[in-house]
Amino acid sequence: MHQFDVLQRRELEYALYADTPDLLLALDQARAQSQASREQVTTLEGRLLQSEKLAAIGQLAAGVAHEINNPIGYVGSNLNTLQEYVTNLLQLVQQLLACLDGEPGSKEARAKVAQLTEAAELEFISTDLPVLLGESQEGIQRVRRTVQDLKDFSRTEPFQFAWADLHQGLEKTLNIVHYELKHRAHIVRNFGVLPPVFCSLNQLNQVFLNILLNAGQAMEAQGEIQITTRVGDDSDDWVVVEITDNGPGMTDEVRARIFEPFFTTKPAGEGTGLGLPISLRIVEQHKGRIEIRSTPGVGTSFLVWLPIQPDFRSDSGDDHGQ
Ligand SMILES: Nc1ncnc2c1ncn2[C@@H]1O[C@H](COP(=O)(O)OP(=O)(O)O)[C@@H](O)[C@H]1O
Ligand SMILES: [Mg+2]
Repeated sequence: MHQFDVLQRRELEYALYADTPDLLLALDQARAQSQASREQVTTLEGRLLQSEKLAAIGQLAAGVAHEINNPIGYVGSNLNTLQEYVTNLLQLVQQLLACLDGEPGSKEARAKVAQLTEAAELEFISTDLPVLLGESQEGIQRVRRTVQDLKDFSRTEPFQFAWADLHQGLEKTLNIVHYELKHRAHIVRNFGVLPPVFCSLNQLNQVFLNILLNAGQAMEAQGEIQITTRVGDDSDDWVVVEITDNGPGMTDEVRARIFEPFFTTKPAGEGTGLGLPISLRIVEQHKGRIEIRSTPGVGTSFLVWLPIQPDFRSDSGDDHGQ
């Protein structure tokens, strides 16, 4: 071997040796990247599955609402007729008794009738029956409203913008979460005067729903949820819906992650970790933002800021939300 070859070979060996750490590092990085993209794929698959599941639930809700509507229709109308019949029958009984009172009939007959009406608790039934029927009608009314709300919520055509009354949306949402919240929290409304807002109200209702449910779920015992609405502090062009609970609040670590898809502190099966990411997306589509104030042991406020008329012209990367 020539002297030259030996030198050259040694040089190459040195070069190779010197590069090895870099190569190993690059290899490590490539491995990490492929691991990360594998994880990303898994996450995306999970998200797809979830959104399919959500869509399926929406469809189910629409179907169930439709199924319930029909029986509720005739039960409601039968109740109306029943109320008429019962009123007539009770009147008839009173008239018959009055007739008997006017007749100089036998004493025994009257005593017998008195005994029978008492045994049948006629007096009690006469007062209780209309109350029961009234309550049932109220119940049916409530079911009807909930079914209508469910139908609105499961509507698939998204983001139809129109001028809308946010208070109406909030009331509808409160009606939906009524049963969920009633044992956990007392609701206080501090509604200000709001102008109509150009928005997709059904979508915003979903935001309010998620925040209200979270507030309720955060509360162990009887808590309080305050809903405050007002025109923005610095600008008349904005409105804010503030939902405050006096639950346990969040640590900074939790607070930093709540908009991450699938981040949840709730037990499996209870939380999907999708409520807030979905809400943020909806609010961002409205060119708005969500602000959070939370103190452990004191409570949490979610402030949903919305422009009264979003400007869709600048549809480039907006960085709302925080
Ligand atoms: N009002 C609140 N009080 C305390 N923690 C909250 C509140 N709202 C949200 N969080 C936290 O944010 C997390 C994510 O919420 P969300 O996206 O709605 O998913 P999920 O409710 O399914 O857990 C919750 O698991 C909880 O830890
Ligand atoms: Mg939630």
